[in-house]
Amino acid sequence: MKTLAIDGASIAYFDTGAPSAGAPTALLVHGFPLSHAMWRRQIDGLRETARVIAPDLRGFGESTLGDWPGAEASLDRYADDLAALLAEIEPAGSVTLAGFSMGGYIALAMQRLHADRFDRLALVDTRAAADADAARATRLKMAEGVGEWGSARVAAIMRPNLFAAGTDEAVVQETVEVISATDPAAIAAAQRAMASRPDSTPLLPSIDKPTLVLTGAEDAITPPEEARETAASITGARFVEVPAAGHMAPVEQPDAVTDALRELLAS
Ligand code: MLT
Repeated sequence: MKTLAIDGASIAYFDTGAPSAGAPTALLVHGFPLSHAMWRRQIDGLRETARVIAPDLRGFGESTLGDWPGAEASLDRYADDLAALLAEIEPAGSVTLAGFSMGGYIALAMQRLHADRFDRLALVDTRAAADADAARATRLKMAEGVGEWGSARVAAIMRPNLFAAGTDEAVVQETVEVISATDPAAIAAAQRAMASRPDSTPLLPSIDKPTLVLTGAEDAITPPEEARETAASITGARFVEVPAAGHMAPVEQPDAVTDALRELLAS
């Protein structure tokens, strides 16, 4: 992986694909509390036709947290990091930004702050709304406790909601291991940032980019009904519901997700 120093942190990112000049770039943004590894199969599937950039967000995977969050934990920090990364890599063609779950919240922050940096948008197993009070309180409780509990407990808490019934245990274990290896400080920072995120629903009608809204048919965290409403609020957005997938659609049904992203990149 390459690294980029941004504002006190080292941001690691995968940069692959050797397509023709002017080929599109796909920027794949992972969810919580994961790493670029969740996109492994999409990276393999897209690299023939696109340059694929898959970062570890600040504090996750091989990236460091720096001195963030300090006084203010906001998803805008990750969005600013992604904008700096795009400036660094100088994409030759169009840029497709794909955000999974927390990565989708960050993609919407990108739309608010750095809309000129990308041309197409994929919102994968995510939502536009802010947290309800109870969800916010649960996040802040985890942010307070995770230093003591350890990340393996976070994996155990999250696991029942991540996958469709019948998902292969090896696939589940892959994700559990990534969560368990995540720095508790990164988990705390991300939870605080997600808890403070604004409602992005009013932003949706202003999105004027080709957009894909994709969700697992059995997603228990960001349910299809909500994703369908998100798609309906964005002019011309394509809605894809992936059968036999829960929240982790990109790892549960990798080919279906890769195909939908490939179509968006070519649109
Ligand atoms: C994720 O997968 O990124 C998280 O489930 C998002 C969240 O906690 O809202």
